[in-house]
Amino acid sequence: MICYLNGEFLPLSEARIPVLDRGFIFGDGVYEVIPVYRRQAFRLAGHLARLGRSLDAVRIARPHDDARWAELIRELVAHQEHDDQSLYLQVTRGVARRDHTFPAGVTPTVFMMSGALTLPPADVLTRGIPAVTQTDNRWFRCDIKSTALLANVLLRQAASDAGAGEAVLLRDGFLTEGSASNIFVVRGGTIRTPAKSHLTLPGITYDVIADLARDNALPYEQCDVHETEVRAADEIWLASSTREILPVTALDGRPVGNGVPGPMFRRMYELFQAYKDIHCPPAG
Ligand code: PDD
Repeated sequence: MICYLNGEFLPLSEARIPVLDRGFIFGDGVYEVIPVYRRQAFRLAGHLARLGRSLDAVRIARPHDDARWAELIRELVAHQEHDDQSLYLQVTRGVARRDHTFPAGVTPTVFMMSGALTLPPADVLTRGIPAVTQTDNRWFRCDIKSTALLANVLLRQAASDAGAGEAVLLRDGFLTEGSASNIFVVRGGTIRTPAKSHLTLPGITYDVIADLARDNALPYEQCDVHETEVRAADEIWLASSTREILPVTALDGRPVGNGVPGPMFRRMYELFQAYKDIHCPPAG
């Protein structure tokens, strides 16, 4: 696999960074995961805008403008064998003697790789996945897409240990998001999800769902979602760049609604697939 590191395209197995990289020492960096359909980056402008906001929030200088990022991404995608890819991009503060304070005059480390996008298979979409609730014990800047993901990793592992595919996070009795996804509930025909805040990552898939709900006049609200509403939901979905939209059909061992993916999910899933076809059309 060909990756990109600090200005060079090279085999992943040959890419090296110094152990004093602050990404390694402190998790001092930010990242993006961009889905690529038919070799076209999906909602690239949204991903690059979020990357810019993450970099500004952690005070790392933007290494490239959007036009240059788009060029580098196109070239990386062209190097891969698969048409549908999951592109990972990370920027760390760079390499310096270990000291919590920002080092002076350091160049950020820029790394990108892209592999096959493996979406949930058809049987998983028709069954849905089990999830478990967990207390959201992360920091108060979950809006920054930071590489420091230890809390998310522990929450996801707790879900996995319980035989579940995602942790649905609750903070002070209210839904925030998943360990690596945004969460939607459907109750009485209305789609509900928390509004953007410092407590959740502003998902790009989340934005697509909002656009599709608006454009198709589906009842949709961004509002506080209490734990009782999550537990009484007719449908629960998760959404992310690597899983698209996926129904959660059991929560903490109890069925969600009828325990099968609901009609609102099926409608949104179809709209999402059609949107992909329009925005990342087949070549020619
Ligand atoms: N994660 N919330 C969290 C905490 C996430 O980590 C992610 C995505 C999302 C969904 O965002 P988007 O729709 O832009 O992918 C929400 C990626 C896929 C990851 O860390 O691998």
